[in-house]
Amino acid sequence: MPRKIVAGNWKMNGTKAALKELLTISIAADDLDCTAILCPPATLLQQAAQSTRSVAIGGQNCHHGVTGAYTGDISAEMLADINAQYVIVGHSERRKNYAETDVIVQAKALAALRAGITPIICIGESLAQRESGQAISIVSSQLAASLPAEAQIVIAYEPIWAIGTGIVPNLEQITGMHDALRKLLVGTYGTQGNYISILYGGSVKPSNAQEIFAVTNVNGALVGGASLKATDFIPIMQALSES
Ligand code: PGA
Repeated sequence: MPRKIVAGNWKMNGTKAALKELLTISIAADDLDCTAILCPPATLLQQAAQSTRSVAIGGQNCHHGVTGAYTGDISAEMLADINAQYVIVGHSERRKNYAETDVIVQAKALAALRAGITPIICIGESLAQRESGQAISIVSSQLAASLPAEAQIVIAYEPIWAIGTGIVPNLEQITGMHDALRKLLVGTYGTQGNYISILYGGSVKPSNAQEIFAVTNVNGALVGGASLKATDFIPIMQALSES
């Protein structure tokens, strides 16, 4: 079975005061049967990594290079240096706002592996693509073009129209997509593809987590808004642990 993983993506939210949420989450994560990851903004990464053991820390992005004249960027090696174990790559907000292509996302995934950290590779379709019946083919080709050669990765399927909107695809749509992605991973990596965690992301909340985690080939969640408060994130972790 793939590992059950719940990852919180704080995006551009949180100052030092938010570390108390992380501590509360980390105490709750101690007793749970799943891997919990938090991806705070870069300014909090080091303190976050120092203050928790039962929650793994991840970056929200990395550059594909090791060092160099890339103002404002952070390399995967720098994330590894502060004991981050994961990094989100190819989030739809970065694909859209920074024109990150599959080629760039693949380079970032390779950079993460080079630095010894696990990339969480995000893919997802727009509403127009969903409505035109092309979601599975578009997301599959996005994933195929973003994959590195090594299988030490995590996948996050996040329909763009579900992110931050409160709208969640129906269970049939989630099942169809996750089954297709599993097939693609097995086709690419052989039996190793069966062990890669495929997370669902987009408006996951305490109220819908349980039914989403019951879907075959959903191995956890990437959570945005509901990861900012321990009172929302802890029940999601618990739902995954009990699934
Ligand atoms: P959301 O964001 O849970 O707030 O919809 C998910 C994400 O962007 O990873």
